[in-house]
Amino acid sequence: MNIDGIPTPALRAHPEQRVINIIDQTRLPHALHWVRVSNLGEAAHAIRAMQVRGAPLIGATAAYGLAIALGAGADDAQLTLAIQTLWQTRPTAVNLHWALRRMAGRLQPLAPAARADAAWREAAAIAAEDIAQNLAIGQHGLELLRQLRRRQDPTLNLMTHCNAGWLATVDRGTALSPVYAAYDAGLPVQVWVSETRPRNQGLLTAWELAQHGVPHTLIADNAAGLLMRQGKVDAVIVGADRIAANGDVANKVGTYLKALACADNDIPFYVAAPRSTIDFALAEGRLIEIEERDGDEFRLLHGLDSRGVPSALRQLASQEAVANPAFDVTPARLVTAIITERGVCPATRQGLLALYPEENHG
Ligand code: MRU
Repeated sequence: MNIDGIPTPALRAHPEQRVINIIDQTRLPHALHWVRVSNLGEAAHAIRAMQVRGAPLIGATAAYGLAIALGAGADDAQLTLAIQTLWQTRPTAVNLHWALRRMAGRLQPLAPAARADAAWREAAAIAAEDIAQNLAIGQHGLELLRQLRRRQDPTLNLMTHCNAGWLATVDRGTALSPVYAAYDAGLPVQVWVSETRPRNQGLLTAWELAQHGVPHTLIADNAAGLLMRQGKVDAVIVGADRIAANGDVANKVGTYLKALACADNDIPFYVAAPRSTIDFALAEGRLIEIEERDGDEFRLLHGLDSRGVPSALRQLASQEAVANPAFDVTPARLVTAIITERGVCPATRQGLLALYPEENHG
């Protein structure tokens, strides 16, 4: 997608220099700052500290992080250590583990001397597939959006939560891919962007929608139910961090409340995600590990001070007890449909297996 009109992916790989460059998303939307990742520690830090974030981008970064790590040595012990280090950075988004499993399967059979080059090639394949899959999600989602009943005016009023746009993937996004496709196809579209406390990923969504020219309006998370009740929302579309085999969806905390409000207001609730987000090995959503993040993410507010300097404001003392679960699980029964790169399916085991028959092992 574009930054100031220039096509830009969320991650740039430089295999010849054995480094990648990432956008430091902790500094957006106030500053666009690229960070060079040149060793295993930096790759793990980028994922853990959410310099990169969003399930597909975490997976691609982990794959490249492994390739970078193997440049410093690629015997069996070094391969295992690098995989374990990256594996433990974040627990909920399954794309991380999916990417590392895929890399391990490709690299383990090879002689150590061949592993680093093969890892760069496999990471590049993961990144390229991510973009292609997101474009396909956009086209399938566009067909759904074209059929939606408009409640109030000719404009299609969509709502999203968190950031599942190109910043959360290598490019194009998952939940925002159909939005971009709709906008590019000339459909009048407007997006309600939920702020997404405490990390405010909604600000990233607003920033990237603005870069593309898509009309949007930021709202406090708590305003979502009112807007639905007022008939100002035609559909909600979100991404996912992990979809269990039965269609339960883990996504950014607050997603479940939106799905509940959709059900009460007869509003379609769509989840857009690629194959790498579906955990066919996990029977149901209650088994998904929910990441508990540092309470200071909640106690401190980040922004610019009156001089425009990035700063943190303490809203709660450090000893104040807080809970900061980063994700929640929306039961499949509240999900109208799942949009994947292979098409649209009901959020059920049968629906998912109809799209991915190769995952049906009886
Ligand atoms: O904690 P984050 O910012 O990594 O969480 C991101 C989300 O929850 C996204 O909605 C999800 O990963 C889908 S990304 C295409």
